[in-house]
Amino acid sequence: MRKRSSAVKLSDDELIEQAREARQGAHAPYSNFKVGAAILASDGRVFTGCNVENSTYSLSMCAERVAIFKAVSEGARELLKIAVVADSENLTPPCGCCRQMIWEFAGEETKVILANMIGDIQKFDIKELIPEPFDARFLEGVKSSAEC
Ligand code: THU
Repeated sequence: MRKRSSAVKLSDDELIEQAREARQGAHAPYSNFKVGAAILASDGRVFTGCNVENSTYSLSMCAERVAIFKAVSEGARELLKIAVVADSENLTPPCGCCRQMIWEFAGEETKVILANMIGDIQKFDIKELIPEPFDARFLEGVKSSAEC
């Protein structure tokens, strides 16, 4: 895995606050479960997201992936940390799809910070949340379709 710049500084509390603000934008009329996320990228920029639900339910998108799509579409490829905020007593961790997507742009030191609305905080290394990930390494040396 790539090493990330340690020159970029933003406190976990500040990132949580940005996730909390982003949560206010959630479109969650079906679950009533609003989630906010904020990513600190290695270039120092912060990208936020909220969950966006749809009447077909399955098209709904998690806050974490909204933030990742925004980051990547704006040129950020290295995520230093991501904060996730929901109004739940048990802190809300990223779902499996979001863990996989975070991993795609994570480094050795990427942190996942969970928080709620009453100030509880829990921090993980991404590797703890997705210990045996599938990633680009498994695609190295794959035969082209002509050879199969
Ligand atoms: N949700 C997120 O946005 N992030 C999570 O980490 C867990 C779940 C959203 C998806 C859906 O809109 C709602 O929360 C209920 O599952």
